[in-house]
Amino acid sequence: MAVRPMKIGVVGCGNISSAYLEIQKRFPVLDVVALSDLNMDRAGAQAEKYGIPRACRVEELLQDPQIEIILNLTTPAAHTEVNLAALNAGKHVYLEKPLAIELEDARKVLALAKEKNLRVGCAPDTFLGAGHQTARKLLDDGWIGRPVAAAAFMTCRGHESWHPNAEFYYETGGGPMFDMGPYYLTDLVQLLGPARRVCGSAQKSFPTRTMTVDVKYGKVIPVNVPTHVAGTVDFVNGAVATVIMSFDVVSSSLPCIEIYGEEGTLTVPNPNSFGEEVFVNRQRKGEKTKIPYTHNYPDNSRSLGLADMAHAIQSGRPHRASGELAYHVLELFHAFHIASDIGKYYDVQSTVERPAPMAMGLLPGILDE
Ligand SMILES: NC(=O)c1ccc[n+]([C@@H]2O[C@H](COP(=O)([O-])OP(=O)(O)OC[C@H]3O[C@@H](n4cnc5c(N)ncnc54)[C@H](O)[C@@H]3O)[C@@H](O)[C@H]2O)c1
Repeated sequence: MAVRPMKIGVVGCGNISSAYLEIQKRFPVLDVVALSDLNMDRAGAQAEKYGIPRACRVEELLQDPQIEIILNLTTPAAHTEVNLAALNAGKHVYLEKPLAIELEDARKVLALAKEKNLRVGCAPDTFLGAGHQTARKLLDDGWIGRPVAAAAFMTCRGHESWHPNAEFYYETGGGPMFDMGPYYLTDLVQLLGPARRVCGSAQKSFPTRTMTVDVKYGKVIPVNVPTHVAGTVDFVNGAVATVIMSFDVVSSSLPCIEIYGEEGTLTVPNPNSFGEEVFVNRQRKGEKTKIPYTHNYPDNSRSLGLADMAHAIQSGRPHRASGELAYHVLELFHAFHIASDIGKYYDVQSTVERPAPMAMGLLPGILDE
């Protein structure tokens, strides 16, 4: 099928926008034509740097009839407002994670998209990368047998050491589960399928954080969310995952993701990357074996989920980094916090099908035959 470039308008030109504006050029189906931000200087500077034809106000961008998809790269607190405005303007929307802060807002966005027959896609798209698709293939092809358990660990000491606007990570919608949970839990769901119940413990270990990124060195910011979240997720397929997401750990040697099967262990790469190494160990003793990639996209390919959605709009198939997948995962983030508050398991209400594996053997940049 011939690829038709789809016109994209970007809302939000902060830290993550550079990756998208650079990498989208690798996908013939994507054509970013305009940028907007509440801060017009930021939009103008990014347009100039990446050769985008136009920087304009958000309202102008939404009214532009040539734009078919809005790429929403605003901070989490603005996601819903921008998503609803984009859908009401008749545009498909793809956004950075999380889908929303509150489940009710996410439901509004998905309902409006359904009513208007428009698509909602949501990062992360790292699970579509070479490392994670290789892991998926190994699992589906039976290399470790039936998966019985998993581990997913993200530990660091917070983003205030490098992110110039790190304040939002310590406000509602921030914290390690909402910020990094999307990578880990989305990958677990694509590997293991939907979850059925969650238990958790969430704590705020420190009342304030001190920024050490050079532009705000020494600025003290309040912490309004839990920054260490631990718990378990029981999956419908019977596997039980142990999870830690923390901004409170200076150093650790925990793996990112491991899947434990009845016949072996699968070491899944860092889900905040597209590639990194994949290993299988089928022996109780002995070395794990590095497995070569079966799929494309080992390098940073942020835009891959957006490109997949643009292809899917044209061919009529479901897109992989879908709003429904993001909703299920969003419910899991809340589940850890709710379970901690109530001191009981949280039964997950939503479900989702595993997204289809990526096709093998296509040219880089092309996602459908
Ligand atoms: N920075 C990263 O490394 C990173 C990585 C992955 C995902 N993300 C996600 O990307 C999103 C953006 O993060 P960031 O780090 O780029 O944040 P940022 O604060 O650097 O940039 C956000 C931009 O959005 C603009 N904005 C906010 N509300 C707006 C609105 N209503 N209309 C128009 N513009 C608006 C802000 O002015 C700012 O320029 C977040 O959801 C975050 O979780 C960030």
